[in-house]
Amino acid sequence: MPTVRDIRAKAGEEPITMLTAYDAPTAALVDQAGVDIILVGDSLGNTSLGYDTTLPVTVDDMVRHTSAVARTTEDALVVADMPFLSIGVDESESVENAGRMLKEADAHAVKLECGPHTVELTEKLVQLGIPVMAHLGLTPQHVNQYGGYPRQGTDREAAERILDLAEAHADAGAFSLVLEHVPSNLAKEVTEALDIPTIGIGAGPDCDGQVLVVDDAVGLSEWSPSFAKQFGNVREEMESAIDDYVTAVESGEFPAEEHSYEEHDLDELY
Ligand code: KIV
Ligand code: NA
Repeated sequence: MPTVRDIRAKAGEEPITMLTAYDAPTAALVDQAGVDIILVGDSLGNTSLGYDTTLPVTVDDMVRHTSAVARTTEDALVVADMPFLSIGVDESESVENAGRMLKEADAHAVKLECGPHTVELTEKLVQLGIPVMAHLGLTPQHVNQYGGYPRQGTDREAAERILDLAEAHADAGAFSLVLEHVPSNLAKEVTEALDIPTIGIGAGPDCDGQVLVVDDAVGLSEWSPSFAKQFGNVREEMESAIDDYVTAVESGEFPAEEHSYEEHDLDELY
């Protein structure tokens, strides 16, 4: 099992691979592919729970899905995302919520959508033994502040804010940093400035690693952002299998003899 120390050591040596997973079968496939880090993202609000944003996702949702992922993951590092308002309001509540991901769900680390309010919390969690992955750039829990999901760090002042916060979280003990939807040259600058690995999503090729939402990567999502590449077409596969099932039942073709039990004398059942 890779540890947060292995992930740090990989930075600059070999690209770090990260994908999300939200359930046991998907986690098993991602793990068997040799992915370094499985993120149980709060994106499960969109991918799996049918919400428009990540905001309604609860700590209980994250514990349940993270534990399903952790049960089937043998090799990858499992990171649990902290959902909207579960951290940053009150320190002891934040610690308790983050702690549940390790104590109850068997995650190895937590991810925080960061800002000036998470520097001290990162230090506290790390001191207590809860490894922290920081997340800067586009932080989707701010959707109502942004009015959408716009690219971040697009002027010098905004870029400096991201750079300063990245350094502050690295100094506070974060073991890695997700950079979402920022210009490639800013991601490169942050990557060069930090001695912890950066993991990009929509952040160009110069980060130490890459992450995608697994539904986007395999082609299951109905919609995915332009920076996500679709490496398969699971949605089409499922559509055609489900259509075929419906047709086969309606036509009486399924179940055939091989899917049925032999006729049995019901009086001799037991
Ligand atoms: O929730 C999520 O899937 C994420 C990644 C996109 C980084 O935060
Ligand atoms: Na997230």
